Amino acid sequence: MSSPNSWYETLTSTPALVAGAIGVSVAALFAVGSGSGSNRTAGQVTEQVKEVAHSVNAQGSKGKVAQAAASIMSAPSTELAPPKDDPITPSQLSQYDGSDPSKPIYVAIKGRVFDVTAKPEMYGKGRGYNIFAGKDASKGLGMSSLDAADAVPDYSSLNETQMNTLNQWESFFEKRYNVVGKVKPE
Ligand code: HEM
Ligand SMILES: *[C@@H]1O[C@H](CO)[C@@H](O)[C@H](O)[C@H]1NC(C)=O
Repeated sequence: MSSPNSWYETLTSTPALVAGAIGVSVAALFAVGSGSGSNRTAGQVTEQVKEVAHSVNAQGSKGKVAQAAASIMSAPSTELAPPKDDPITPSQLSQYDGSDPSKPIYVAIKGRVFDVTAKPEMYGKGRGYNIFAGKDASKGLGMSSLDAADAVPDYSSLNETQMNTLNQWESFFEKRYNVVGKVKPE
């Protein structure tokens, strides 16, 4: 029942449910402060978490949840394969949306296709971030939105803040996931 990981499972599989409760997204953590593409030290992350926890507490919400969520962000991978440039059409991409557990899961950002197969608990069918699977949902990432209507490739409507958020996600993915191709219009 209450395995040590149960709260984590809840967070990672149903972020939208807790979003209202704590009023902060982990995406926001990436957007705060840090220069684009720069690696943050543990100290910087701690400072950032404190900052967010403070603002969350100020709103009378559960800062501890935000703190816990931030502290368990997965570490960057050290072993990435050379990026591939293979063309992948949107309809091909849509087959890698996690609905078939025997297939890889892909997430595209700004047309680059990342292999997130290692994280079925986040991107798999019915999971919290499945909305990003099998497509390029750059706009939604920039908006910190899990709405289907925002899960589209055209991010031209994003403002500067949202562009920063999108760029932070791009950098997050670059450090963790292999690039398996590029989205090519049908
Ligand atoms: C308060 C609400 C939220 C909570 C508590 C939350 C929680 C988390 C946690 C714990 C992780 C880290 C998982 C890991 O690294 O293993 C994560 C990652 C992530 N979150 Fe959220 N999240 C929230 C809202 C959102 C929203 C609104 C978005 C929409 C863009 C979002 C997008 C993501 C993405 C793309 C990842 C990266 C997953 C990965 O590939 O590891 N989150 N979230
Ligand atoms: C960008 O849009 C978001 C959401 O509407 C808003 O909260 C933010 O203040 C805007 N930022 C800028 C720099 O216009």
